[in-house]
Amino acid sequence: MKVVILNDAAEVAKYGAEIFVKQINKKPDSVLGLATGSTPVAMYQELIAANKEGRVSFRQVSSFNLDEYLGLPGDHPQSYRYFMNDKLFNHVDIEKFRTNVPPGDANNPIEACLEYERMIEKAGGIDVQLLGIGRNGHIGFNEPSSSLQSRTRVKTLTKETVEDNARFFEEGEFQPQLSITMGIGTILEAKKVVLLATGEGKADAVKQTVEGPLSAACPASALQFHQDVVVIIDEAAASKLDDPDFYKYIETENRRLEKHLGL
Ligand code: F6R
Repeated sequence: MKVVILNDAAEVAKYGAEIFVKQINKKPDSVLGLATGSTPVAMYQELIAANKEGRVSFRQVSSFNLDEYLGLPGDHPQSYRYFMNDKLFNHVDIEKFRTNVPPGDANNPIEACLEYERMIEKAGGIDVQLLGIGRNGHIGFNEPSSSLQSRTRVKTLTKETVEDNARFFEEGEFQPQLSITMGIGTILEAKKVVLLATGEGKADAVKQTVEGPLSAACPASALQFHQDVVVIIDEAAASKLDDPDFYKYIETENRRLEKHLGL
């Protein structure tokens, strides 16, 4: 696992965005796996700026989001489809019909999950998957105890996740406690995975992910099995790692090597 420790959230957003810009410029019809939550918002702003500056075009890109609340239609302001339109899709030249978010209003959610898997496969699989991480180590809505080989399915959110996400809802507003989420097995099939985490609240989850045992108690630790993962974090999120200087040293050496090889 490659760990990149940067000064602050703004640098994390820039670094993450550059990976996506490079990917899309290398393969204009890239299939992106996208995430919601607070963490990726700044990265999406960087991508919007890059698109406006003509440094990247999303015209041929397709996308699959990790998850959606079950019970919310895509035009509901709290739905993740609405979030994605609002934070990214409405501001770049992506074709909306190529963007996919699990259908929160599906009549048959179980069938919808199977269909989502089929659609990812039909698209040729995900080239780069973006992830945030929950304080409890969840990725997507794969809460602790999720099977490390799980596929897209209906999942119940933990009390902690419901509480963490309550900040997005008005008082008294219906807040779903069920979701459709890609599984950990689905995520692990992406060719590349980019995980962003910022702030001290994520420090324990980051430590478990990078240095902890492989365990369903921290779903993100399953990423230790993936051969191309980059974990991009700020100093606060890195604060509980055993040896942050070692990761910084590796990153400096990688940069030196890339320069040497003209990459
Ligand atoms: C969102 C998602 C979640 C979030 C995680 C962190 O699509 O899948 O796993 O990435 O809950 O959320 P924030 O970034 O709001 O701390």
